[in-house]
Amino acid sequence: MKKSVLFVAVMLIAIGGGMFWAGYHNASAPSVPKTVIKKPIPKPKTVPIKVFDKTQFSTTDPASPWVVVNKLHPLNPTEYAPADLTNVGGGQVMRAEAASALTTMLADAKKAGFTVTAASGYRSYATQVTVYNNEVKTFGQETADSESARPGYSEHQTGWAIDLASGGCSITDCFGDTVGGKWVTENAYKYGFLLRYTPADTAVTGYRAETWHFRYIGVDLATEMRTQNIATLEEFFGISGGAAYN
Ligand code: DAL
Ligand code: ZN
Repeated sequence: MKKSVLFVAVMLIAIGGGMFWAGYHNASAPSVPKTVIKKPIPKPKTVPIKVFDKTQFSTTDPASPWVVVNKLHPLNPTEYAPADLTNVGGGQVMRAEAASALTTMLADAKKAGFTVTAASGYRSYATQVTVYNNEVKTFGQETADSESARPGYSEHQTGWAIDLASGGCSITDCFGDTVGGKWVTENAYKYGFLLRYTPADTAVTGYRAETWHFRYIGVDLATEMRTQNIATLEEFFGISGGAAYN
């Protein structure tokens, strides 16, 4: 081999080796400085506490769905009559909003296989005079006052209350034992109704238990009372009640 060819070959090997060496080092050396990826620190989850607004509707205006009527809180004015009375079947009427809710509830009861009907809805002051006087005449005043409101003191006069019938039990204790009555008792809150006179709360409401009497208060309040496990409007709103008239 000529010397010049040998020289070129040696040079090529030297240059190639150098390039390989440099490349090896470049590959292993970080070409870009490591960047630290900062993960965002998750904020602690805050569960918003939804406080039920008890002032949304009046508890004293007889036109309000939240009006509390009992022996210490008569309707004001005493001879109040609601404006938008609407048919609910059985010859009965209620305030339009309550009538719509009741119609839906009774239709759903029917779909579930139970026939429940309206037995007594809105009663005027004059009608309550007749109802109460008949009670007094039949049972005496003490018993009458335990189950019938005096005129001007009945929820029925607001147009928000309904007495129901099912399985041959109309405005009687056995309504609560009928399958239809049980369905209504369990589901009423979904339609905005409250079983108003419960056995455990006679001292608060001032009336003996009435399995058939439901009061429209709207879905929000009915659901809230059920959630809080509070049975009476008096306890929920902190309003006085009881068995004695002023
Ligand atoms: N039976 C209920 C208390 C009323 O007369 O309104
Ligand atoms: Zn009633």
